[in-house]
Amino acid sequence: MAWLLARTCFPKTIPRDRFSSCKTRAWSKGPLTAYMPEAAAFPEPMDHQGLYQVSVEQTDAFWGALGRSRIMWINPFHTVHCCDLQQGHMSWFLGGQLNVAVNCLDRHVHKAPNKVALIWEKDEPGQEDQITYRELLEMTCRLGNTLKRQGVKKGDRVAIYMPSCPMAVASMLACARIGAIHTVVFAGFSSVALAERIQDAQSETVITVNQGLRGGKVVQLKKTVDEAVKLCPMVKRVFVSKRTEENVPMSDLDIPLEEEMMKEDVTCEPVALESEDFLFLLYTSGSTGKPKGLVHSQAGYLLYTAITHKYVFDYHDGDVFGCVADIGWITGHSYVVYGPLCNGGTTVLFESTPVYPNPGRYWETVERLKINQFYGAPTAIRLLLRYGDDWVKKYDRSSLKILGSVGEPIDTEAWKWYFSVVGDGQCPVVDTWWQTETGGICISPRPSNPGAEILPAMAMRPFFGISPSLLDDKGNVLTQNDISGALCISQAWPGMARTIYNDHQRFRETYLMPYPGYFYTGDGAYRSNKGYYQLTGRLDDVINVSGHRLGTAEIEDVVNKHGAVAESAVIGYPHEIKGEGAYAFIVMKKGFNLSQKNLASELQGLVSKQIAKYAAPEYVQVARRLPKTRSGKIMRRVLKKIVENKAEELGDLTTLDDHEVVKEIIEGHKQLLQEETGQ
Ligand code: WT7
Repeated sequence: MAWLLARTCFPKTIPRDRFSSCKTRAWSKGPLTAYMPEAAAFPEPMDHQGLYQVSVEQTDAFWGALGRSRIMWINPFHTVHCCDLQQGHMSWFLGGQLNVAVNCLDRHVHKAPNKVALIWEKDEPGQEDQITYRELLEMTCRLGNTLKRQGVKKGDRVAIYMPSCPMAVASMLACARIGAIHTVVFAGFSSVALAERIQDAQSETVITVNQGLRGGKVVQLKKTVDEAVKLCPMVKRVFVSKRTEENVPMSDLDIPLEEEMMKEDVTCEPVALESEDFLFLLYTSGSTGKPKGLVHSQAGYLLYTAITHKYVFDYHDGDVFGCVADIGWITGHSYVVYGPLCNGGTTVLFESTPVYPNPGRYWETVERLKINQFYGAPTAIRLLLRYGDDWVKKYDRSSLKILGSVGEPIDTEAWKWYFSVVGDGQCPVVDTWWQTETGGICISPRPSNPGAEILPAMAMRPFFGISPSLLDDKGNVLTQNDISGALCISQAWPGMARTIYNDHQRFRETYLMPYPGYFYTGDGAYRSNKGYYQLTGRLDDVINVSGHRLGTAEIEDVVNKHGAVAESAVIGYPHEIKGEGAYAFIVMKKGFNLSQKNLASELQGLVSKQIAKYAAPEYVQVARRLPKTRSGKIMRRVLKKIVENKAEELGDLTTLDDHEVVKEIIEGHKQLLQEETGQ
């Protein structure tokens, strides 16, 4: 076995001079080993396709070589992987022990202590802070010591409710250093949603800030935590970092974070963790009401984020990587924090919004920070393209080499604008498909052979180690091209989530049982006649509002708590900017005399309070009944067509119990649209 021999002579350090920071060269010249030196472990010559084949056919050889070369181990692993997708047992790098914080900090401090790790692009433009690897390590160690002194132990869950800021990154890494499991809750979630996550994770510890700043506005984050903590008797301590100068009321549970950190040492012994110990939980929405705490473990996740970050974005030493996602989402975890820091990169922490103080914010930031890879969401691109090209062209974007898109399908118009206006036709656009569950990018145009085509609005090719399959609703694998089906992945990969916290059965039922032997993504996809993938949207009752994933059942659960609501159905409708919006159909209880408009504002308030502002339904339509099958199931498909304004395509209605009600709902929908748009 040639590759086995080759593997043993794998270079210990990666010869940096084999890379080039020149934007055209990286993708256009040289053998494949120039962009993936690990490929040297495999027989040459090998093109992208060859390397991809190795990655899926010789899983152990491929990931073993990467695991050895890209991660610093305290104890080496003895088995690369041992996975059973049927049973839901996925283990990578067994026997290995490591510390993720050491991989993200110490080893880089060793080489280049003064290299910038984080550029904190604060809400106000022009006030960025640079934090070096040494500074971030010191912060992390002081924070780790503080957590330990206050009683946080290995395996404890720590809820982090903070905006994107260095202290939030240090909090994540401090948990990783001492073996605690962090669960970052997006700071746009309401107190009730935060409480639900704290309770599910059984976190005794919360880390937050006194106030947040976003789009020039002060957000009272500590107050939200206070309200959440009232619902969480298990919380023993709340660390409060000072994002602003404002003093906020402090209770017995509250600990001023910076003050305590100042008392601590700048070194903190990293704990040796098993590869499969839990690194973090991240809650995401599914098709039932309760959010799921997806679990990612240490080594596989770290390696997968580092490798995807490096190869999808062609990240080179010295580049400034600008992923503008919030750290509260998986994109922030994988491509603001873990991937870039594991690679020793410089990563931007973006605290603001795409339109603050004006729609040129992103591009002004690109110019000022000299960002090389920009990674954003289609919803923001769609919003900005409406403000016109001048806001882009005003700023120098010549530093840009790659543009990334994530979170939802990017339509051709937005893709073309991104490519030709933002990137001046010079930068490949990588439309990256993945999920909280997948840990990192699974389908994307890069890497691929130099010069390989990228088609607009297509995620294109599977990443190394990913074997996508399309299945029909009977569970048959569709082997041909030019076909659509349910997107599944047929082999485990290192970055995949391992379970749902405290509910492995739900994990199996959601992802592994729908198509036994496969990981089911919940998305539909089309495979073109050239074998390229295009994502076509969710197949379940999950909607995507401005790149934020929401279960319609989650919204229904809240709406149904309103005293006047007898029954509801929340449906996603196409929205020009947000991608999708929530549309609620409500049947009121008898005897309630509330106008549709008043009910709408009450329900919007309720959903904002219980989940988050972005989850509030834009439209609320009162109906006499909901369309149901004779067996009593709501015909969501019919409602979906109505909100898409495709009432003429309702399809087969033979199982519908009451045809009159559909006519009424179509009429009510038209009226509501007229009222809202004033037409
Ligand atoms: C869902 C995952 C991936 C990090 C951010 C969202 C949709 C994501 C794409 C894309 C089409 C996409 C899918 C997926 N999605 N990226 N490039 N093209 N759809 O993570 O909150 O876990 O949501 O977002 O529907 O299942 P998430």
